Amino acid sequence: MPEGTIVTAAPRRSCLYMPGANPKALEKAKTLPADVLIFDLEDSVAPEAKAEARETVRRTLALGGYSDKEIVIRVNALGTPWGVADVRAACEVGPAAILFPKIDGPEDIAKARDVAASNGGERIALWAMIETPLSILNVAAIAANSEQANLSAFVMGANDLAKDLRCAHTQDRAPLLTALSMTVLAARAYGLVPIDGVYNDIQNEDGFAAVCRQGLGLGFEGKTLIHPSQIALCNAIFAPTEAELAFARAVITAFAAPENAGKGVLKVDGKMTELLHLEQARRAVAIAEAIAAKA
Ligand code: COA
Ligand code: MG
Repeated sequence: MPEGTIVTAAPRRSCLYMPGANPKALEKAKTLPADVLIFDLEDSVAPEAKAEARETVRRTLALGGYSDKEIVIRVNALGTPWGVADVRAACEVGPAAILFPKIDGPEDIAKARDVAASNGGERIALWAMIETPLSILNVAAIAANSEQANLSAFVMGANDLAKDLRCAHTQDRAPLLTALSMTVLAARAYGLVPIDGVYNDIQNEDGFAAVCRQGLGLGFEGKTLIHPSQIALCNAIFAPTEAELAFARAVITAFAAPENAGKGVLKVDGKMTELLHLEQARRAVAIAEAIAAKA
């Protein structure tokens, strides 16, 4: 990254799912501090409520009121009786992204792009759930084809994946670690944003914090959430800490000092610091500034 490059960053720390058939939750979300709101038409909506949920989401988003939150609509898979109608409704209201579930490979994303484009959604980004065994085996190929499909994020679907793998869904997520890491690897290799899966035990704050920290440590940029009570903690854990920011600012200052002009490596706070650390520092500061701008 050339010196002086302005880094822009959109925080995706907290991505809250809301059942599309629950108008109370959709209304409440207007006042919640989640970075991303995912209007769900899929798993949280019963088959008999699909049409009504679609209409509720369409009407609610047409009225607006969600200020600076990034709006994402999760549609049903295109192979279901509801998928195409969901995409059509989503394209009408123009969210930041449409999230497609049950993606198995790059051909599913190409199909999703075609259906969105043929409904006027050429410019709407796509996000993909990574939640089937095949999606894990194909995750690099899905990411490699992301540019032409305007695919910009992977969302872990840990519940579906654990179900299909018939693996244990334990607190330490050991049986899912390979899948989690492969998803982060593929996302980072091709510039997509990896977002971690949900934590079902709403009352268990300690367990939730541990799993957020694990996701952050693995490289996820944020986490999908199911309840408003999870937002504040998730936002705090996925934001740069004060210590990280202080170090980032020190790195930026050190590289900007006239006596260090043209240098590729410095010592900052006793640590070897290279231009790659300058890039990390700029990103941390940009994210912190974007978070502060929301407050
Ligand atoms: N988004 C926005 N608001 C939500 C919410 C969500 N995901 N989940 C709960 N709320 C609201 C409730 O409407 C209630 O609002 P109120 O204070 O105005 O009455 C408040 O938060 C407290 O809710 P609570 O009583 O603790 O939860 P609940 O029993 O009503 O609902 C769930 C529990 C799990 C059914 C609900 O949280 C939910 O549907 N979560 C999302 C599920 C989902 O989308 N899954 C798909 C992805 S895995
Ligand atoms: Mg699912």
